[in-house]
Amino acid sequence: MGSPCSSNHLWYYPDTLGLLNTCGEKWKQNRVIVASAFCFGPLAKMIKKVVRTSRMFSERLSQLCQENPLGFDISVIIGKFSLDAFLYCGFGWEESSLENPDCLSFRYLKAVLDISSADNPAVGIARIYPTLIPVLCLSDIKHRKLHSEFVGKLGDEIRKRREKKDEIEKQLDIVGHLMSSTVLERDEMNHCVKRMFSNDEVCGHAREQMTGGLGTVSAATNFTIYCLARNPDVQEKLIEEIDSVCGQNELDLTMLLSLDYLKCVIYESLRMFPVAPEKPTSDQNLERNIYLSSIMKTR
Ligand code: HEM
Repeated sequence: MGSPCSSNHLWYYPDTLGLLNTCGEKWKQNRVIVASAFCFGPLAKMIKKVVRTSRMFSERLSQLCQENPLGFDISVIIGKFSLDAFLYCGFGWEESSLENPDCLSFRYLKAVLDISSADNPAVGIARIYPTLIPVLCLSDIKHRKLHSEFVGKLGDEIRKRREKKDEIEKQLDIVGHLMSSTVLERDEMNHCVKRMFSNDEVCGHAREQMTGGLGTVSAATNFTIYCLARNPDVQEKLIEEIDSVCGQNELDLTMLLSLDYLKCVIYESLRMFPVAPEKPTSDQNLERNIYLSSIMKTR
């Protein structure tokens, strides 16, 4: 069933429980929880995993450069790198689409991107005639099947972690963060009660983070690399900054946050090649809107 907020109108349970399909107080509370997975502490842990995936990415790139001296399509490998980094940081999964493009997550993500593509007539029909969505879902066989397999796998991961309660805290990834978070609700006596996210809610949010984040991150990485390739002087300056901040040490979050020139390069690439539609609110001026933090707004 479709949602007016989502670019993919053909979606299935537990997507209903994600941020894109909730509103009001519930959305606000869930949004705070989801956003807090990206604070300093959790991110500092995640970055080690990104560094590890980046090494695999560099090795694969060097191999492809040797094998294809006339050039190759870098966007495919950037997509796989983004997916692998997300799966490892978000779910603790070490499956590598860089090494195994047949892995479930890669096939599922590809099906989600295909179904959400503007080239897919079903998306346009669903947007104009939302009453047809149940019929369109019936013909959405491949994506629906992969969704059920992927959600099943994620559900198993969550159940497995619930059984080993002590492990939840230790695994400070997105799934662990969602599993250990609490929401406030009113019971039938109108008393405020705290409860943990249900397994389905964890699954809905975690899945949404994956599909919501990957298209934008891959596209932003592609455009940034393209801009760097077109501007070798900027590339040189960026390498100098990275060398001076990191030296021979492994990148950590403090180092990453002090890479000011890198931040400017990414912002400028996003300004020239926006990867997501922007809907400024009345209190945002255009100058502020180029920053990602300002793009996220309240409902
Ligand atoms: C270059 C990177 C990114 C850009 C440009 C971007 C841009 C956006 C924009 C414009 C929105 C709509 C905001 C609104 O209408 O309120 C949005 C929403 C969202 N993004 Fe991103 N995003 C990026 C990366 C990510 C990543 C890495 C994740 C997850 C790990 C993510 C998860 C989401 C989610 C879940 C929403 C829905 C939020 C809500 O409805 O409250 N995004 N993003």
